[in-house]
Amino acid sequence: MIDIKPLLIQIASQYILDPNGAHGLSHWGRVLENGLSLADIEGGDITVIHLFAIFHDACRHNQTVDPGHGARGAALVEELLGDLRLVNRKQLDLLTQACREHTDGKTQADLTVQICWDSDRLDLARVHIEPDPRCLCTDAAKTDRLREWANQRAIAKYIPPYVNIQWKPLFIR
Ligand SMILES: [Fe+2]
Ligand SMILES: [Fe+2]
Repeated sequence: MIDIKPLLIQIASQYILDPNGAHGLSHWGRVLENGLSLADIEGGDITVIHLFAIFHDACRHNQTVDPGHGARGAALVEELLGDLRLVNRKQLDLLTQACREHTDGKTQADLTVQICWDSDRLDLARVHIEPDPRCLCTDAAKTDRLREWANQRAIAKYIPPYVNIQWKPLFIR
């Protein structure tokens, strides 16, 4: 797995919102863990899934309706990873697509992209929306077991320990 700390430092330098907000760091951490749980069952590219968690909402301009934030996240991916030193061309293409289209409500895509979208949608209960299985992409995400696990963590606003220890200090300035 690649070292995401240098990327998080660059993401933090352009991040304009409260990192404690509904689309902030604890959401990114739960998205990451949702994605890894889905990948355990479905497969998929772990590097892309990991990077999606920290890029997809990195360029939000507000915590409510912001239709351009997926495209801006994809542009940041291009800016920071487009030299293909840390990811290969296929991973870059999957990651930019996953970020660009993550708010479009689509369910059909490459498995890795589907897992990225599901990982985000499985955290919707944090904003009082229970994810509808018909809006999820993968069989694993549609199971009661995974949805209930993710819903409980979303409602409790569970914060993975590394988010507070490793990620948050990078966003405090
Ligand atoms: Fe988003
Ligand atoms: Fe998100």
